[in-house]
Amino acid sequence: MTGIAGKHVLLIVTGGIAAYKALELTRLIQKAGGTVQPILTRAATEFVTPLSIGTLAGHAALTELFDLTREAEIGHIELSRSADLIVVAPASADFLAKMAQGHADDLASTTVLATDTEIMIAPAMNVRMWEAPATRRNVAQLRSDGVHVVGPDEGDMACGEFGPGRMAEPQAILEAITAHFDAKAARGRLKGLKAVVTSGPTREWIDPVRYISNESSGRQGTAIAKALIAEGAEVVFVTGPAKAPRPAGCRIIEVETALEMDAAVQDALPADFAVCVAAVADWRMAEAHDQKLKKTPDGTPPTLELTANPDILAGLSQGDQRPRLVIGFAAETENLEANAARKRKTKGCDWILANDVSAQSGTFGGPENSVILLTESGAEPWPSLPKSKVGHRLAARIASHFGR
Ligand code: CTP
Repeated sequence: MTGIAGKHVLLIVTGGIAAYKALELTRLIQKAGGTVQPILTRAATEFVTPLSIGTLAGHAALTELFDLTREAEIGHIELSRSADLIVVAPASADFLAKMAQGHADDLASTTVLATDTEIMIAPAMNVRMWEAPATRRNVAQLRSDGVHVVGPDEGDMACGEFGPGRMAEPQAILEAITAHFDAKAARGRLKGLKAVVTSGPTREWIDPVRYISNESSGRQGTAIAKALIAEGAEVVFVTGPAKAPRPAGCRIIEVETALEMDAAVQDALPADFAVCVAAVADWRMAEAHDQKLKKTPDGTPPTLELTANPDILAGLSQGDQRPRLVIGFAAETENLEANAARKRKTKGCDWILANDVSAQSGTFGGPENSVILLTESGAEPWPSLPKSKVGHRLAARIASHFGR
């Protein structure tokens, strides 16, 4: 599965009569299975309202750099990095100049400066502005910075002139975006390799209304699956009831309990490699109750008898159909490296990514992760990275392990 399906596009709309076409582009991206987060410059709001594009996108359009609520929730850096592609459409002459110079005086320009995501621009301006030496210099600079340029088209312009400068049609921009994602997938270094990824928490039922679980959001597992898919791997994603949206372009198996996760993983074999990111509950009820547990008249709380769940990672590492590379995580709140090294040995996996999940680390449910990779050749601390980056870095390591 390729194209836009499951991809998240940050759509920056700058000022210009073509801004109304951003609505059509939003609709087309969604129809193709992608999601859109719009950002409008102040000038853009003169042409389209944040309400119209935000409603269409299903995500409130953002306009202000110092929107404190937004900043607290996600922050502009994370905003720019969580996207699979940033599209600036229309891109005005002024915005191109700002991008080429690296200005950051509003949310739109700050986002493009702070990102490491690829950027595509669809310029739209008067023909003389497009042909002006300054714009030519700016576009040449942006191209050499790796920015993709779509259009502009030649034709009658809103200002009554004729020539190049009209924004490429939304359909053409959509095709350029699709081609971009297709080309990326085709260059993948994990093409031809099959992976099983476990993710999210498991849920162990006590009775029909209560369960034992944990706070795993599934963000790290999802980010890893996305990175593997982007590198062309065939991924079977086995996930517990996690909050994170599911990755696109792979087989998804939804499970609830550790027993179900274990069975799904075994079913997915053989595979070339496995990454166990799930926060599997270690215990389940020895006997789940069919009916809701009732309070006793004297108020004595019930005793919950637990039994051990299978260790899915250990089962994979020691099983008959062992993948050639088995990777686990170690969630620790103390003695990170020593505990993780012990886990690598006892479970029999090849690599362990040790992460600190103590409350002050912010890892559980948070956007960043700081891990130590333990392999047969030792410990390699990684800097604190967005979970998406941990995914890409791991995918690159796996590719080099397989000699890609
Ligand atoms: N794991 C698993 N099945 C389990 C428990 C853990 O597959 N029943 C995997 C996790 O997906 C992770 C690794 O084992 O890749 C380590 O999980 P972690 O929770 O850190 O360790 P536990 O084995 O549960 O040990 P402890 O709770 O004692 O730290």
